[in-house]
Amino acid sequence: MEVFVGGVGMVPFGRHPEVSLVSLLIEAAKRTIEDDGGLEVDCVVVGAMNPEEFCGQGNISAAVVNNLGLSGVPSLRVETASSSGGSVLEVAHWAVASGGFKRVLAVAGEKMTHLPTPLVTKILAEVIEPYERNAGASMVALAAMVTQAYAHEAHISIKRLESVLCKIAVKNHRYGARNPYAQFQKEITEEQYFNSRQVSFPLRLYDCSPITDGAAAMILTSETKNVKLTGIGHGTDTLAVRHRVNLNSFAAARVAAKKAYAMANRDPSDIRFAEVHDAFTCFEVIGAEDLGLLEERKGWKSVERGETELEGRIPINISGGLKSRGHPVGGSGLAQAVEIVWQIRGKVAPERQVKEASIGMLHSIGGLANNNVIAIFEDAQTPPHGFGWAPTYERRIEINRDPKDPEEIKGREGVVDACTVLSVPPEGFPSPLVLGLISTSEGHRVLARAPTGAHFKVGEKVFLEKEENRYVFMKAHPVERLLYKIEKRKENLNAKVKGLLSRWRT
Ligand code: COA
Repeated sequence: MEVFVGGVGMVPFGRHPEVSLVSLLIEAAKRTIEDDGGLEVDCVVVGAMNPEEFCGQGNISAAVVNNLGLSGVPSLRVETASSSGGSVLEVAHWAVASGGFKRVLAVAGEKMTHLPTPLVTKILAEVIEPYERNAGASMVALAAMVTQAYAHEAHISIKRLESVLCKIAVKNHRYGARNPYAQFQKEITEEQYFNSRQVSFPLRLYDCSPITDGAAAMILTSETKNVKLTGIGHGTDTLAVRHRVNLNSFAAARVAAKKAYAMANRDPSDIRFAEVHDAFTCFEVIGAEDLGLLEERKGWKSVERGETELEGRIPINISGGLKSRGHPVGGSGLAQAVEIVWQIRGKVAPERQVKEASIGMLHSIGGLANNNVIAIFEDAQTPPHGFGWAPTYERRIEINRDPKDPEEIKGREGVVDACTVLSVPPEGFPSPLVLGLISTSEGHRVLARAPTGAHFKVGEKVFLEKEENRYVFMKAHPVERLLYKIEKRKENLNAKVKGLLSRWRT
């Protein structure tokens, strides 16, 4: 059964200190039902990543359906980390496509700004694989390492990479300033970008999406409307980033894109504009490459040429993206979908309206690309391809299906695959925190911490040590290793003296 888009709506993103998460969801849902002409829905799908920890709110789908005055209607919650907003769309789509329901309300959001940043960082880090989380990895830190790995693979210097990331940040703030629903209603200059503080090298403040409150909603229906949801795909990848074959692209996005293109019978060349999950600026390039919208490993050149601007070949994140519209984690995927439908219906202000916005693509990432949801929306009048035509989208998809950690490290030598200096670590970790993804001589990859604040280069040889169940890496110089051993002896001796003293005192 074909799936059409009925009403859509969202609340302005930003800080809403006095409003509960449930109220944000209800407001987005009410706007959507009103946009739909007030018709009844026969199912409600609610998305939120972690309302329990952010807000102490459980059983959220029952709270939403109750507060909408729709008790009796089936209601369920869907969660795939920060792609929850994409996944509610997926579930709502299949509910309609299967013929099981006629009119499904999808609503998703998150409330985060009432908590201090280190606590938000800690809650966000719960989506990370436990070993990596316990080593101090946060979402920003892992994203910074992926960014470095991308730059290495694409043969781009860190200096040039920074100017590309700056272009993305400036672009997305420019369009956010034109979007009344965006958290940041202000443009930024290149100078402001380069003067902003490092959060996790090479990512600065303006490379990161902010902490946000917000909600969005959409009604999917089997009744004919002017916008269709023609393709939707979902892919996954290993929970641990260290177990990935490739650090510089997202296999889950590629799997999902392949399914979405095949379902819609479309190709990358059909897509007129896209909302790409730019939780961190580099993800905009990596995401657009994964979708086949930009050339593999050369997407950064398209950014330099302005191809992703409003007037460019393939406008990306003309909403301001997650970077500037904001990122209420569980809600962003659905907000991207609402923006695409508004663009297709010509409902945005002329200064950010995409010309010929007939086919738009949504790209939503869950966790550190553990989940990816891709969707294609079309103006229902857009002609399909002729009979016998098939999509030709092709991208390298490499998923490690047998991830293993080393029993022990024999060689004690390794090579840096990616490295970052994290200035805003999760609660309970020291700042700065130096983290590296290190390949061992036996062919494993581990996440390790460096004891000093030294910078490391991708490809650099290092020494690895194992301390209980965590790894430490240091410059591959015998003096460094000696200093490390002396430091460890001192720590052990101090611990012994403290133990003896406390026994003697008692
Ligand atoms: N981009 C632009 N400006 C930002 C910003 C961002 N990401 N984050 C905060 N700001 C602004 C604030 O509005 C504030 O401006 P003001 O002084 O004019 O009011 C100023 O910077 C300081 O804000 P503050 O809240 O103190 O910043 P912070 O250090 O607590 O948080 C980050 C900054 C980058 C650490 C935080 O936004 C963050 O962790 N982002 C990533 C979130 C994330 O990982 N999401 C999940 C991804 S899947």
